[in-house]
Amino acid sequence: MYDLDETIRQRHAVRMFLPDRPVPRALVDEALELAIRAPSNSNIQPWRVVFASGAARDRLVAALLKGAHEGPPKVPPLPEAFAHFRSDTGKVVYGAMGIKREDTEGRRIAVLRNWEFFRAPLAGVVCMDRELGLADAVGVGMFLQTLLLGLTARGLGTCPQVSIAGYPEILREQLNIGEEFTILCGLAVGYTDPDFPGNRARVGREPLAHNVRFVDE
Ligand SMILES: Cc1cc2nc3c(=O)[nH]c(=O)nc-3n(C[C@H](O)[C@H](O)[C@H](O)COP(=O)(O)O)c2cc1C
Repeated sequence: MYDLDETIRQRHAVRMFLPDRPVPRALVDEALELAIRAPSNSNIQPWRVVFASGAARDRLVAALLKGAHEGPPKVPPLPEAFAHFRSDTGKVVYGAMGIKREDTEGRRIAVLRNWEFFRAPLAGVVCMDRELGLADAVGVGMFLQTLLLGLTARGLGTCPQVSIAGYPEILREQLNIGEEFTILCGLAVGYTDPDFPGNRARVGREPLAHNVRFVDE
């Protein structure tokens, strides 16, 4: 048994993995068995995940990197009111990697690592049936967070990645994902590289009152 609060606090986005340390399938299966306990609308269990490892993962990464060199990912921009979060997070994350604000080449190289799944040996793609809606995406999110926590408790690092979903045609072709699925995000899973300074980045949170209201009368 693992302490839930401690596991929640330990989990963070990992942006460099040990490429040569394989992820034991048994640990992933254990975490998945926990994740499928997540609640969902009418228990429809809307989560669909494809994992690639070994040669399949390497082919996928090669195709994504080729795509990234050919053109920008199709990631919708954040609405104006939220845009500052991206630069605030970038400051913390790239700052921890030692990349200065004006170092555009350093940043470009760091961003490109997204399409290598940050060198993680296990590369996931999270999908949902395209006919489902927002409430069902909530269910996928609950599954995903439970999966992240289950993996964290087993000593594994994780990073959910919207950047991966920026090249949907490549994912569909490489992993045989049909048009009946919406691709939501990628998921890197592996052992955290303890020597990579960027992995020491910890981003903060808004105070509760910013996001939550209690109405009493
Ligand atoms: C749906 C989703 C998509 C994300 N996409 C990316 C991504 O493409 N690249 C990346 O480096 N981090 C990505 N992240 C990680 C977030 O930047 C990170 O969760 C956030 O900054 C909070 O930091 P923490 O997870 O370390 O607490 C994503 C997280 C989520 C939940």
